[in-house]
Amino acid sequence: MARLNENFLKLKAGYLFPEIGRRVSAFVAANPDAKVIRLGIGDVTEPLPPAVTAAMHKAVDEMAERSSFRGYGPEQGYDFLRDKIAQHDYQRRGCNVQADEIFVSDGSKCDTGNILDVFDLSNTVAVQDPVYPVYVDTNVMVGRTGAADAQGRYAGLTYLPCTAENNFTPALPEQRVDLIYLCYPNNPTGAVASRETLQTWVNYARENNSLILFDAAYEAFIQDESIPRSIFEIDGAREVAIEFRSFSKNAGFTGTRCAFTVVPKDLQAQTASGETKPLHPLWNRRHCTKFNGVPYIIQRGAEAVYSTEGQQQTGDLVKFYMENAALLRAGLTAAGIEVFGGENAPYIWLKTPGGATSWDFFDRLLNDAHLVGTPGSGFGASGEGYFRLSAFNSRANVEEAVERIQRLLK
Ligand code: MLT
Repeated sequence: MARLNENFLKLKAGYLFPEIGRRVSAFVAANPDAKVIRLGIGDVTEPLPPAVTAAMHKAVDEMAERSSFRGYGPEQGYDFLRDKIAQHDYQRRGCNVQADEIFVSDGSKCDTGNILDVFDLSNTVAVQDPVYPVYVDTNVMVGRTGAADAQGRYAGLTYLPCTAENNFTPALPEQRVDLIYLCYPNNPTGAVASRETLQTWVNYARENNSLILFDAAYEAFIQDESIPRSIFEIDGAREVAIEFRSFSKNAGFTGTRCAFTVVPKDLQAQTASGETKPLHPLWNRRHCTKFNGVPYIIQRGAEAVYSTEGQQQTGDLVKFYMENAALLRAGLTAAGIEVFGGENAPYIWLKTPGGATSWDFFDRLLNDAHLVGTPGSGFGASGEGYFRLSAFNSRANVEEAVERIQRLLK
């Protein structure tokens, strides 16, 4: 009989969001008339911008004609999209990122997991705690960790607590690590990192020969102009960082799927014998071997994000969700809840009222207010006693959610 990968057996019962889905489905089955409002998973609700759908329609028509039909595209993405990303997201902001350092993909979730293919199992890893569960679970799956303890912390990983006490800004690891996952604007806490904070991390990585895996999937939600949108705005980052970006949240692509990863050509890692080699060719090789590229139609849609209309329309989408975030912040604060995040990120991170555990508050909100959020402890031990609400929803639902919470806590 084939042997299974026993690392999977170390994983906690379910990936956080399916587990929430399971509880919500059970509630809905038992309460079919309840109008449940979902502010759990950060899934967008507003339709794709018209500039994007127009570009996709045009691309569909091209695919219908022999003369303009396209089969396999370049695995790394079409030049028309890579050039736009390089110019708009990086060079325009003074970052030295070239088009051939950009790898277009089907999602940052996938890329943050897949990137582990190019790293040896012996690497030590640090994650922020609470953390986007994908970073942890993918390391468990490849066998880089031991078992989880009672709080869900896996042996072998270094956890960097982010709590209200340290303003959700973790201290540097006490012991040297090889790989550091940083997510800014942060999922789940909504915290952002100042230029000084990011420079501290880049300096740490340079001094310790570490590598930063920087997840910037929520950069479009930054409102404060002083906050860097890319790790490559930081001096020296090209030699120590990989960046992940996505069209999911700013342009509504959660179901459409398009993202990209930047692997600078200056970035090197070591062989067992101590030789340094660039990572770019390894990631390129991995991408070409295991991925056939994002569909042409989707990439044309992503390209349209950079048009004048696309910029206006995605800007409006971000503004809409950030207004939702402001409503949630104000409404929760008025209800006496301590609230964080939601100012430069689409996530509100709150202290559970009355010191309830995260899952107890989840159940209370679901059963008594028919609202779904995400328990902080699902993101890590340091998330216990916190709760996340997503600003991705219709205005009417957000307003009603605020009213229900206020009624619940009266
Ligand atoms: C979340 O709710 O944390 C996000 O939707 C996760 C994701 O983007 O994969």
